Amino acid sequence: MDAFRIKGPCKLDGELEVPGAKNAALPLMAAALLTEEEVVLQDVPAYADVGNLIRLLRSLGAKVTHDDVDNPLGGTVRIQSDHAADPTAPYEIVKTMRASISVLGPLLAARGRASVSLPGGCAFGARPVDLHLHGLRSLDAKIELDGGQIEATAPADGLKGRIIFMGGPNGPTVGGTQNVLCAAVLAKGRTIIESAACEPEVSDLVRLLRAMGAKITGEGSPRLVVDGVERLHGCTHRVMPDRIIAGTDAIAAAITCGRVELSNYPQDSLLGVEDVLQRIGVRFEFLDDAKDLLRRTVRITADRRQEAVEVTTQPWPGFPTDLQAQLLAVLTLADGNSVVTEKIYSERFNHTAELERMGAVFHRIGPAVVVRGVPRLNGAPVMASDLRGSACLVLAGLAAYGETVVSRVYHLDRGYHRLEDRYRRLGADIERFNADASDPDDPAAAIEIPAKPKKSAGKKTTPT
Ligand code: EPZ
Repeated sequence: MDAFRIKGPCKLDGELEVPGAKNAALPLMAAALLTEEEVVLQDVPAYADVGNLIRLLRSLGAKVTHDDVDNPLGGTVRIQSDHAADPTAPYEIVKTMRASISVLGPLLAARGRASVSLPGGCAFGARPVDLHLHGLRSLDAKIELDGGQIEATAPADGLKGRIIFMGGPNGPTVGGTQNVLCAAVLAKGRTIIESAACEPEVSDLVRLLRAMGAKITGEGSPRLVVDGVERLHGCTHRVMPDRIIAGTDAIAAAITCGRVELSNYPQDSLLGVEDVLQRIGVRFEFLDDAKDLLRRTVRITADRRQEAVEVTTQPWPGFPTDLQAQLLAVLTLADGNSVVTEKIYSERFNHTAELERMGAVFHRIGPAVVVRGVPRLNGAPVMASDLRGSACLVLAGLAAYGETVVSRVYHLDRGYHRLEDRYRRLGADIERFNADASDPDDPAAAIEIPAKPKKSAGKKTTPT
């Protein structure tokens, strides 16, 4: 099982490109099931989750390739679906990745039937899909649960456009909005999705669906209006840059009091994050003409300890839950006491116990954590238990004095491609090694991690 050894503290300094976004790419890949023509997606990095979704799409009868995977922005995925193939998404694959649920809406709309294993909870609590099912039922789909499988069937004359309210107890749902949107594009008549998620990854899906021939307005707002069409066609689409990786890099600059220059930086989707980081003392200097807010070049600098801050995670455009763990890492070293409240996943705090092993001080009060800034963190062996929590431990390791060993980095590989190479390029002393091949919980067999690049660059295909 792979682990990272990090010797700190270090001061990051250098340039990086922000790759395509995993959380945009996964639903876009699933949406390719809506047509039998080829859909080409550019800037899709070879994350473990992308490999898992490719396996799932192939099991659903699609032809899928992933080329040019050594491109720092991500490779090119080509998908060609077959509507006559079996629409069953088996538990063996769905259990490796919750985002597998994103095939439900496209399969139901394109094939009239879908059988998708119900995803379970995850490391930070329950992750229900009731709103996905509510939205699809509203379009006249019949949905039953049988032996852990969601069995969904469209009426013989197809799904019907309807007015649907998609808000839930914790606000809108990103994946639910995407699933219902994919079903509505082929439904008869007009669908209005009210309390839709406004996240940039939903807008990216709208851009893809429009390029495939769908009629949708309202992206980025809580009301999406969809006029169903009879069929969709193939297209080529460039995946939006990864706002969570860009945010992680910005926080890496902050925690190391360093300087990171990012190109392909999606400022458009990060204004809420920039606001919080500026309040703690991070500087953003844009180096371009601001013609395209989605893809900018920025220099991020921090030359002193950060200030404490109060932050609440919120749906976009608020501060994202997927950067809460990384922010906590930098706040452990801030001047004063910070308060971070988690409004999306109230239990998403596994990383605090590991940070405490490095000298951080927290006081948890329900969904909030008070962080008392300490003068320094000290290296320690720590264990990752989810994707963003792993990134948080790596950032803490970069700033801590001495050696930090982060084990179980397979969690990190789900959404960061060779993060150790990325930060080594900026001066970090970080290496990947095989810590304990006999760990009984190692799911490496279920997740395929692409091999390291060979020296001669060129077109390659992932083993997925
Ligand atoms: C997406 O998950 C992201 N995943 C998550 O990123 C991210 O944390 C989350 O959105 C919130 O921004 C992908 O895009 C693949 P939700 P999703 O449905 O769509 C509740 C990462 O680290 N809810 O918007 O599954 C839910 O429990 C991952 O990259 C219901 O109550 O999230 C949560 O409290 C982790 N019923 C809230 O809504 C439902 O049917 C938002 O969840 C669905 C969700």
